[in-house]
Amino acid sequence: MADASTGQGNYLYERLTEKNFQRLCAALLAHVHPDARCYPVGHSDGGRDMTRIDGTEAVIYQVKWTSKATQNPVSWLSAAIKEEADNIRRLVRDGATRYVLITSVAGTAVPGRGSMDRLDAELTRFKRDFNIPMQLWWRSDIDARVDAAPTELKWAYSDMLAGHDLVRYFIHGAQAAAQDQELRNLVMKVIATQWEEDSKVKFKQVELTTHNLDDLFVDVGATRVSEPSNLRRPLPGTLNLGQDPADLAGAARYLIRADRPFTLVRGEPGQGKSTLSQYLCQRHRAAYLNEADESATGPAAPEHPADPRIALRIDLHDYASWLAGQDPFADDMGTAKKRLRRDGQLEQFLAAFLTAHGGGLPAEAATVHDLLDRLPVLVVLDGLDEVASPTTRKRVVNEIDSFAARLRTALNAQLIVTTRPNASELTEPSETLFETIALTRLTPELRNTYLHKWARARDISGPDLVELERTFR
Ligand SMILES: Nc1ncnc2c1ncn2[C@@H]1O[C@H](COP(=O)(O)OP(=O)(O)OP(=O)(O)O)[C@@H](O)[C@H]1O
Ligand SMILES: [Mg+2]
Repeated sequence: MADASTGQGNYLYERLTEKNFQRLCAALLAHVHPDARCYPVGHSDGGRDMTRIDGTEAVIYQVKWTSKATQNPVSWLSAAIKEEADNIRRLVRDGATRYVLITSVAGTAVPGRGSMDRLDAELTRFKRDFNIPMQLWWRSDIDARVDAAPTELKWAYSDMLAGHDLVRYFIHGAQAAAQDQELRNLVMKVIATQWEEDSKVKFKQVELTTHNLDDLFVDVGATRVSEPSNLRRPLPGTLNLGQDPADLAGAARYLIRADRPFTLVRGEPGQGKSTLSQYLCQRHRAAYLNEADESATGPAAPEHPADPRIALRIDLHDYASWLAGQDPFADDMGTAKKRLRRDGQLEQFLAAFLTAHGGGLPAEAATVHDLLDRLPVLVVLDGLDEVASPTTRKRVVNEIDSFAARLRTALNAQLIVTTRPNASELTEPSETLFETIALTRLTPELRNTYLHKWARARDISGPDLVELERTFR
């Protein structure tokens, strides 16, 4: 989906500066031609950023970067060459035999009419003018070279990464000689903080510190109650035409697979919505903290998401109090009279959330947009029912809906909202965008699994366990 947001390929060269783009091009060239000469960036280099002698050939490389989408690449590049005319003539006099222009601009491929073919025609003219063969590396040429380059080279330019490449960098790139580690630092700190918070089973937000979530968790069943009504074509698993609600087996297993981006999870009080959301987030975080795969084998192993996301678990109660002008992350919420926030977008709140969970590293709404544009993110908004006042709830739901609408331009975001069954006609997130699933009651089999997990966690076995099972039944 990187294409949707940038109109370009996998690498976001716009995010590199002019100098870093030149460094990247030099590194790509040096990777295939170790004897190429790369001139320091930012010096006056007389129109040659890199040069290379190959037998009788003397090749000049000149880099042209732009941060803007170019409406007419042919005239932009022709103008760029004309600007270099004096330099090119001098270089030819000094013995240059080939001229290569490297650009971040994307060409179009339509034969004859596309910018790539049209520029080739221009280059033939320039060749006659300057008396030197000319060639262009388009954006797609650079994409191909970056694809083929070693991982360390990509990581040195992490600013241009998005999606899968950026995820790999986040997970494995700790030692990388990265130019800019800020986002990685922040996100990894947030993940680690929430990993700790969510590792224990909680009861009413309070940790039962003795019990690890992984030891007790059972995956409760769920059914799909409704599909988002804006579906244009049926998604996999929607073939039962809305008659019986579709059985989704385990809720966690289903949501980890996530083939729909927005889900409303409904469950009775205490049925396990918060625990489910903790578990889901932990499965995603485990991949980033390299905790995955080590302990887990066999049929009881926890699910591993194929595409691990940056998981952020939010209590909607906190969002509501933040909207009311309080700081839900401060130790002492203060008693001073607070004013309702006017700029209450979820991105703003997430920025406050990241700052609080990132050990004070700065995060702004722009950081959140950057995160959503470049990384797969899972946002879980837990406990819509805990927003007590109907007016605040209306506002919260509005903000959720418009956040979801904006998420369509995100790289690959998943949004889950949990709530109790709605008795009093309170507003809920848009049925156009969200599918709704409902947790089902524990089967006797699951109940038994749960009992055994619980007994093991408490070291109950032998006759005590038999006794417990009897009372339980
Ligand atoms: N899937 C599960 N596996 C193991 N234990 C669970 C599971 N779900 C819930 N529990 C147990 O039930 C308790 C209550 O669950 P939880 O707080 O997640 O429910 P909830 O649906 O969020 O309730 P509420 O509507 O009050 O927010 C947990 O503290 C935990 O002990
Ligand atoms: Mg809950």
